Amino acid sequence: MTHTESATESATEQAAPPVDPNEVRITINGREVVSTKGELVIAAAQHAGDYIPRFCYHERMSSVAMCRMCLVDIDTGRGPALQPSCIVTVAPGMVVNTRSAAALSAQEGVIELLLANHPLDCPVCDKGGECPLQDQSFSHGPGESRYIEEKRHFEKPIPISDLVLLDRERCILCDRCTRFADEVAGDALIHFTNRGNDTQITTFADEPFVSYFSGNTVQICPVGALTAKPYRFKARPWDLEQTESTCTTCSVGCRTVVQSSHDELLRYQGVDSDPVNWGWLCDRGRFNFEAVNSPDRLSSPMVRVDDELQPTTWNAAVGRAAELISEAKAAGGAGSIAVLGGARGTNEDAYAWARLAHDVIGTPHVYPQMGDGGQINLLGFDRATIDEAANAATIILIAPDLKEELPVLYLRLRDAVQKRRSRIIEFAQKHSGLTAQAWKTIDYQAGGITQALAAASADPDIVAQLAKGKVVIVAGRANLAEHPREVCNGVVAALELAPGAKVLPALRRGNIVGAIEMGLIPGDGGMSVLDIANAAASGKIECLVLLGCDPLADFPDTDLARRMMAGAPRVIAIDTFLTKSSTPADVVLAAAAYGEKAGTTTNIEGRVTTVSEKVTPRGTSRPDWMIAVELAELLGGDLGVSSVDDLTNAIAANVAGFGGATVAALASARDGVVCRGSLPAATARPSPIEERNSYDYRLVVSRKLYDNATGTAKSPSLAHLPMGSELHLHPLDIERVGSSDGADVKVTSKRASMVFKVVADESVVRGSAWVPFNQPGPNVGELIDVSDSVTDVRIESF
Ligand code: SF4
Ligand code: FES
Repeated sequence: MTHTESATESATEQAAPPVDPNEVRITINGREVVSTKGELVIAAAQHAGDYIPRFCYHERMSSVAMCRMCLVDIDTGRGPALQPSCIVTVAPGMVVNTRSAAALSAQEGVIELLLANHPLDCPVCDKGGECPLQDQSFSHGPGESRYIEEKRHFEKPIPISDLVLLDRERCILCDRCTRFADEVAGDALIHFTNRGNDTQITTFADEPFVSYFSGNTVQICPVGALTAKPYRFKARPWDLEQTESTCTTCSVGCRTVVQSSHDELLRYQGVDSDPVNWGWLCDRGRFNFEAVNSPDRLSSPMVRVDDELQPTTWNAAVGRAAELISEAKAAGGAGSIAVLGGARGTNEDAYAWARLAHDVIGTPHVYPQMGDGGQINLLGFDRATIDEAANAATIILIAPDLKEELPVLYLRLRDAVQKRRSRIIEFAQKHSGLTAQAWKTIDYQAGGITQALAAASADPDIVAQLAKGKVVIVAGRANLAEHPREVCNGVVAALELAPGAKVLPALRRGNIVGAIEMGLIPGDGGMSVLDIANAAASGKIECLVLLGCDPLADFPDTDLARRMMAGAPRVIAIDTFLTKSSTPADVVLAAAAYGEKAGTTTNIEGRVTTVSEKVTPRGTSRPDWMIAVELAELLGGDLGVSSVDDLTNAIAANVAGFGGATVAALASARDGVVCRGSLPAATARPSPIEERNSYDYRLVVSRKLYDNATGTAKSPSLAHLPMGSELHLHPLDIERVGSSDGADVKVTSKRASMVFKVVADESVVRGSAWVPFNQPGPNVGELIDVSDSVTDVRIESF
């Protein structure tokens, strides 16, 4: 070798890319494949384009190798042997053959065995046409069976929960539903019982499978053993058309497919979006498509004639709405018009309405939520993504019960703890779904978050934990009977404890973040919802526009909501149903619902994703943005847009931080684009909070997943699930008031006196009393004065 040759060779050696220490080279079906350390053979083969059949394997759950369908020949140097590829991890030099005679024969054998007892219900089974057992019987089965014996029979179906039915003889015992309930949801309420041929899935008689996530078990069941009541016998897969979309029931923004048949929504299924929902949905988000199909939907606009709402044409209704706005302007100026709501729609709806309100009508009094969320400048902190929260060393929770309000965020944070990535420090006025997962739960009473955080800063364990790595503060409104500024006060105090921490806002309504970022917030001199309500109550608001919101149901202070509605001489409502607040309106403009309109939505982390139109809007109802465009025209303005795409691109061009969310970018980014506006961060405004009189209890009011919200109340499968309004006290406090579990008590605030059933509940902090909001039964909003920092109540037994 010449000197030159050797120099060239050593230069080549130096230029060779460094070998990734996690890289593992294996051979699959004769081809070399580069895998990564720890990867399962079934996944490595799939990435290399070789699909190994499977039933029990699910990439978001632990491997159990229950079904043996994934047997393949694996040779690690000692000769090929059949092994379940869903539980064997790759090793250097491993040789895998997924199609050897032995592997094919094993796979055929497994199918033959599974079909020995599986009833051939396929023509009537919901899963027929999208059934992994059916599909793999064709692709990997023996073609015929040697079994002639009678198959197993069971009573069919049996309900295992409010929403899920089980046909036991169809079950192939893959352990997917049971693993999901245990590992993912934390509701380990379905199990195998008996042994051998008698093994079956069962629930416990005294502990039914009550889970907010039960629909996921139906979706991941590889046969039709589990079926969902709202979908059972409604359609066959080949009848369904589908489009990908994003759930907007809450602000997590789970990715879904929306399926319909004959122009009717029939099913939502979870889609695996890695940064967001991992394929899971909560049952409320999954099944509330029924409300879109409700016969009670508004199908045309209405105007009040002779004190009665009557259906009319769009020209007449929008004309009347424009007239009301012009009259109000003439009577009290643009500043006498207030626009409330808008967190239910798309970014495009919000953007069009923000432009209409601020630029065309000219009012600064615009507010996107009903005083039932956190302060809007909660978005001004350095914000975390869901992934950042679920990978932080420490998660500080100053938030509502995430299991109730943002259920899939609860699943993600639960996973972070279960997989030992994170520790949760929870500050709680009432223990939550995550309390069992929390490393520390620090109880405090309403009004005391700043002091609770100051006390935590003196705890050396907490200080040491916070020094261990990244910290994310998940912050939102835990108590509707406490002033919303307390959430921001808590965040500011938590940032003193953990400087550099990021904040994930736990705001609740579907597109509340989008509505704020699109500008449905007060302009210069604009009022917040509380001030708007007070102004309307004292006759200073000439026209109130309710953009898909229902203050009489959602504003925490019911008396003020009533006075606001009564004090506004003109009310225009844009809604999908006649609600408590839209029923007394002068004009009701029928809005297109979810699934009936396209656009984009923004989740809590600022992720913009698409929502899709799948069915035709009910009757002549229209998307909110279209109504804004028409109203603007009649009021002498021009929003300069005529389609959803125009609006999406206008948002990208004009909204700070949203430049990346163009139609073209969103079309190719399935997980969306993270966009952040430039709101200023909230500053602390601690106010002196009076000590609780020791005879009183501090009121905590928060939401449950199922309440009187329209989407739940109008979905027949969900409508019976709200728990009802009752007062929960710690058992020792029940004794203290001289009452007993289940008895009636009189509850008196400075606003009102009401009777509630009292329930013993150890999750309520001593000295506090908890009541769920917006439930059937006594309306706790009557007790709340939102101008107060906290609400104290006297509880008396009869
Ligand atoms: Fe929809 Fe929220 Fe449920 Fe996800 S967690 S499915 S976004 S309601
Ligand atoms: Fe591997 Fe079931 S998929 S054993």
